[in-house]
Amino acid sequence: QSNEFQHMIEAHTLAANFYSHLLLNTVEGEKALHYLEQRGFSRDHIEKYGIGWSLDDREVLTQLLQRKKFDMKEMERAGLCIMKNDGTGYFDRFRGRIMFPLHDDNGNVVAFSGRILTNTKEEAKYLNSPETPIFEKSRLLYNFHHARLNVRKTGKVILFEGFMDTISAERAGVMNSVAVMGTSLSDTHLTKLKRIANQLIICCDGDNAGWEAAKRFALLSSEKGLDAQIALLPGKMDPDEYISTYGGEAFTDKILGNPHSYMSFIMAYYKRSKNLSHENDVLQYIHEVMEELARKVSPIERDLMIRQLSSETGVSKEALNEQLMKKVGTLA
Ligand code: UTP
Ligand code: MN
Ligand code: MN
Ligand code: MN
Ligand code: MN
Repeated sequence: QSNEFQHMIEAHTLAANFYSHLLLNTVEGEKALHYLEQRGFSRDHIEKYGIGWSLDDREVLTQLLQRKKFDMKEMERAGLCIMKNDGTGYFDRFRGRIMFPLHDDNGNVVAFSGRILTNTKEEAKYLNSPETPIFEKSRLLYNFHHARLNVRKTGKVILFEGFMDTISAERAGVMNSVAVMGTSLSDTHLTKLKRIANQLIICCDGDNAGWEAAKRFALLSSEKGLDAQIALLPGKMDPDEYISTYGGEAFTDKILGNPHSYMSFIMAYYKRSKNLSHENDVLQYIHEVMEELARKVSPIERDLMIRQLSSETGVSKEALNEQLMKKVGTLA
């Protein structure tokens, strides 16, 4: 089994080098290279992250792996190749995609995420390796091996929902960020982060999915005993879009430098979907914030939130406090 582990890593390393060569040195890779340049990637960064291109060809990687005498059943289990329907051979899983290698904590390439060049409805934007003996989605944090030292030094880690955001942030000088592979954060992820950091800044996309993810991430972190704050982006931007629009300095100063406490975030979260000039929305908003306030908030935070709620809604602090005491009473 450890033999298989080793072969799978060797094959991934070979594949990553192959994809990188195709991107950087071939005519077939030019379109992808232009795409990356348009997104602000320099050659240095492309090399640093080991980014590559998988040809629009069914079998190039498969043939390379066969030439190098890899066991094809093993390569199928490693997620690099897929058996043909008629069982006569294998073909490449990744074709016509920009390839982002995913590394384990020791810096070994253990999986890939491949991006299509043009977003379409038919195809997933990112195709990821399946779960394999060397790749567990719920364990892997993008950039963990790079960021670990800086996280330990600062005690602080930034968490993004997409690895493009981590890459952009590093280009802007943020060297202590990691990303989950989408919107699920596992207990294993949190255990890993807690071992090296005592402060977490959650920075999800500004779209609906991102706000929901931020709420989930914040709750999970606090259950885990990790001090979490939430950095919010304007509009529906994601961190990468914000950085390319406003620059890295604005991102570190205004966004990361100004994170919200859980309660302050949750107020923004509930306010988001409401129009506070409508009485119904005001009542609903107060109700939702009260539910949160009644549960787990320090007296000081409670006082701050009541003040804010009062100024936002025009309801007096006294009335809000009275309502809150009733609520606490029913919970006790
Ligand atoms: P996003 O849709 O926010 O991607 O998904 P992104 O990071 O902004 O990428 P660009 O800027 O459009 O290139 C966040 C994460 O969700 C996972 C990926 O891990 C991605 O980094 N995801 C997203 C998938 O696995 N498959 C998809 O089709 C889309
Ligand atoms: Mn073997
Ligand atoms: Mn997103
Ligand atoms: Mn995004
Ligand atoms: Mn993006």
